[in-house]
Amino acid sequence: MIKKTILFAIVLSFFAVACNEGGSKKADKGDDGFVSEESLGLRKTDLYSENSTEGDLGVFDAPAAGKSTNIERSFENAPPLIPHTVEGFLPIKKDQNLCLACHMPNVSEAVKATSIPASHFMNFRPEIKEVGGKVVAYQDDNTKNTVTQESLGDKLNNARFNCSQCHVPQANITVEVKNTFVADFRNEQSKNKSNFADVVDEGVK
Ligand code: HEC
Ligand code: HEC
Repeated sequence: MIKKTILFAIVLSFFAVACNEGGSKKADKGDDGFVSEESLGLRKTDLYSENSTEGDLGVFDAPAAGKSTNIERSFENAPPLIPHTVEGFLPIKKDQNLCLACHMPNVSEAVKATSIPASHFMNFRPEIKEVGGKVVAYQDDNTKNTVTQESLGDKLNNARFNCSQCHVPQANITVEVKNTFVADFRNEQSKNKSNFADVVDEGVK
């Protein structure tokens, strides 16, 4: 019995040492024996100050528009990532939106760019009006919150004017935590094409 207890104690202390070694790799202990603030975050700098912390700015070295290759959609109907450089295109201004010069449906085919989709030529917001000092959403007949789906013809909805709010250029960066998300597409086509305007009311009607 005594023998067994001693053996158990030896095994236990072995594990204790092993665990401790594993732990000290993750969090460095300061002189006072406590885990240091700097070792907690992924960035390994003072968590209370941004002064000495510089993010990885990345290298934006994508080829010019027309020379890049489209990237598979992150998930079904996700806004496609911008595969080409946007140097000289950003920032988008009220009177200067170069994205439109190639992506508007009337020019996109000629420059082999994906057309801005139907969803960007739709208004999903209800009309609003003021009732008793309050701004309310309404439909012509009554005052109630409604979601509309109205085609604007060939007029881009200005809510979509700022393309880079949703579509982002790509940079080479090192990521500390890998993204393990794997998208589940309903069909092969939706990996490279969106159909949001067609399916927006799926399951609602
Ligand atoms: C000079 C024409 C041109 C301009 C300007 C331009 N693009 Fe493009 N874009 C293209 C072409 C062509 C492609 C297809 C890939 C290629 O050939 O480089 C493309 C691809 C894309 C894609 C990927 C589409 C898909 O189906 O995966 C997105 C998103 C995109 N561009 C957004 C933008 C945004 C946002 C801007 C403005 C900041 C912009 N583009 C400016 C021509 C252009
Ligand atoms: C509010 C977010 C948002 C803004 C702003 C926006 N988009 Fe999109 N875009 C999306 C989403 C989400 C999709 C995918 C679903 C869909 O088709 O609506 C998409 C899809 C696209 C596609 C792929 C179409 C296809 O057939 O696969 C292109 C090209 C595109 N957008 C271009 C643009 C351009 C150019 C602008 C600026 C004029 C812009 N978008 C502004 C969110 C946005």
